[in-house]
This record gives sequence, structure tokens and C-alpha cells, in this order.
Amino acid sequence: MLYLLGLLVAVVVWLGLLGVISRPTGSTSTPLPGSGVSPWLIRRLGPSVFTAGVTATGGPLLHRFPGDHRLVAGVTRSGKSCTVHAIVAAFATIADAAFVGIDPKRTELGLWAPRFTQNAVDLDEIDQAIVNSVRLMKVRQQFLELQGLTKWTTSLGPWLFIIIDEYAELVGISTDGIDRTAEGSVIDKAMKRSKALASMRITDIASLARVGAGLGIKLIVSTQYPTTEVLDSQIRNQLDTRILHRVTGDEQVRVGMGAGRAQVVAANSIPADMPGGLWIVGFEDYNAPTMARSTYIPADRIPGVANRTAHLSWTWDQLLSLQTVADRKGQTR
Ligand SMILES: Nc1ncnc2c1ncn2[C@@H]1O[C@H](COP(=O)(O)OP(=O)(O)OP(=O)(O)O)[C@@H](O)[C@H]1O
Ligand SMILES: [Mg+2]
Repeated sequence: MLYLLGLLVAVVVWLGLLGVISRPTGSTSTPLPGSGVSPWLIRRLGPSVFTAGVTATGGPLLHRFPGDHRLVAGVTRSGKSCTVHAIVAAFATIADAAFVGIDPKRTELGLWAPRFTQNAVDLDEIDQAIVNSVRLMKVRQQFLELQGLTKWTTSLGPWLFIIIDEYAELVGISTDGIDRTAEGSVIDKAMKRSKALASMRITDIASLARVGAGLGIKLIVSTQYPTTEVLDSQIRNQLDTRILHRVTGDEQVRVGMGAGRAQVVAANSIPADMPGGLWIVGFEDYNAPTMARSTYIPADRIPGVANRTAHLSWTWDQLLSLQTVADRKGQTR
């Protein structure tokens, strides 16, 4: 009997993943198997592991804290931001998690402002956020050297997640064929400056990616364009966990999944009417590409989670002065 019930659940989940049972019609879509509306579908399974979705075989879609640097890629409206929101919603409940948003499209991460150290949207703010992150990396590096330690741990201070949505915009790559740096271009001077600063940003982000992990700094990089032009190899090679939503071309699969992992994943293997559907691969939990679907958190639920967890947010001053959760106790903020 139990066996039959289990079989039935697995079949229902599969059909749901394939979009057979119900199809989303936009932000008002009804809950779907594997993508039901809500916080309670994000569950803490252990001290450092959460589930925020379901795999094609009915298992939990795991997100480990802090996990590797992550790439979240896929075409527009494939569910990248929702997946990022699900990860942030899970980790936001942890006191040892700090977040910095880099949101040049200005649309995605602002809802998290109460829980974030900073959500940078203007170019000046973005450069400031990157400068501060690099400074934090150096301060932590010196601290470890002085202490004779080699690796960051939670007892030394929080993990900082730097969330970049959309990476192509950040590095000043035109993805729409308009040369924003051309003389008399319709777009503003800021983009011109952005282009000039882009290579500096790439260098800084590459160094955060390369050295940051051992210093408690993790990147979550989201892009519609997982191509070699957009994602420099120095950065790409550091993003060990790959989450690939729907893509339409082979290069996107190759770059999105990583070398040697693309064989089992085909472009268009996630249907267009299944937002949130994804392939995940990484070293900790998914050695082979695994198909899954993220829990769907509607945007209007985010401010509630952000406000409820706002007391756990970190300021740049607290981070840069190497405060720990223990230091913060009793301190009024
Ligand atoms: N897991 C999910 N289950 C059901 N519907 C989803 C899921 N994820 C996303 N959607 C639907 O797809 C829409 C687009 O998702 P989202 O904004 O995350 O896409 P995106 O890939 O970030 O797009 P863009 O590149 O344009 O920013 C959402 O508004 C929602 O209606
Ligand atoms: Mg998005």
C-alpha cells in the first residue's frame, strides 16, 4: 500500500515537472507540483542544508549553506530570479549570512533591502559595493594570516553572499546589439564609464571568486547570457555549482553547465511553459546534472521574509571590523 502511494506521488511529481498537470500563466499562476507558492516549501533539513524545490525523481532540491560559488543562468523569464530568491529566503534565516545585491537592472533584488547589507543599483553604488567586498577580503586575509589560520569559518564572522543579477550588464557587455559606448549614443555617459570600468570590475570579481571562498565570500551570479563572451573564464571556472534554467543554444548549455558536464543536458530540454525548471550540477550534492524545479516564491512574499529577518542583517562597518554573531549579541543596532 505504502509502495503504491509512493509510486503515485512520484508519477504526480514527474507529470508536474513536465508541466502536464498545470501550467503557469504568469505571476498569478496556481501552485504547481514542485513550485508551490511559499515559504513553508523552503525547509531546513539540517544545520546547513535546505530544500527549495523538487527533483524530477521526487527528491528535495538541496541548497547547502554556504555551498560553492553559484551560476544561475537561463533565458529571460526562465525562473532565475525566483531561484535566487528561494536561495536567499532560505539563507536569510541564518544569523551567519550577510548579503550584498548588485542589481544593475534595478528590478530584482530591491525587495530584500531590509535584510541586505547593501543593494547596489547605480554604477557608483555598484563600484562601492565591489570595493568594499574586496576590502573585506583583504581584511579577512590579513586576519587569518595573523592568527595562523588558513580557512574562514562561521565562528570568525558571517558568510557574505554577493548576488549579481544581471552579470552581462555589470561587465558592460551589450546584449542587444546597441553599442552604448559609441559617440552620440542614445544611452548615457554612465554606460560609457561603465565600459571603461568593466575590466576593473571583472578583475575584482575574478579575485573575489578565486580567493573569496576561503575567506567566507560566495558569489551567486545570474545571467541570461551564459556565453564565453559574457562570462570570463577566470570567473566561470570558479562557479562550481551550476543552475541552468531553460536555454536555447548549445553554447549556453556548454558554458552554463561547465566543461565535460554538458553531454546529458540538451538545449530546450526545459519546456518554455515550465518556468523554474532547471538542471543543477555541483560537487557537493549533484555530481551528475539533475533536473529539478524551484519552489516559487511570489515577489509579494519577499518583503515579509526580508522584514522578519532584518534583525539578522549586517552593516559594512560590522563586516569590515570583523564582528561575529557573538560580538553582536547585546549590541543595539
Ligand atoms: N519555480 C517556479 N514555478 C512557477 N512559476 C515560476 C517559477 N519561477 C518563475 N516562475 C514564473 O516565471 C516568471 C519569471 O520568473 P523570473 O522573474 O524568475 O525569470 P528570470 O529568469 O529572472 O527572468 P529575467 O531574465 O527576465 O529577469 C515569474 O514571474 C513566475 O510567474
Ligand atoms: Mg530575473
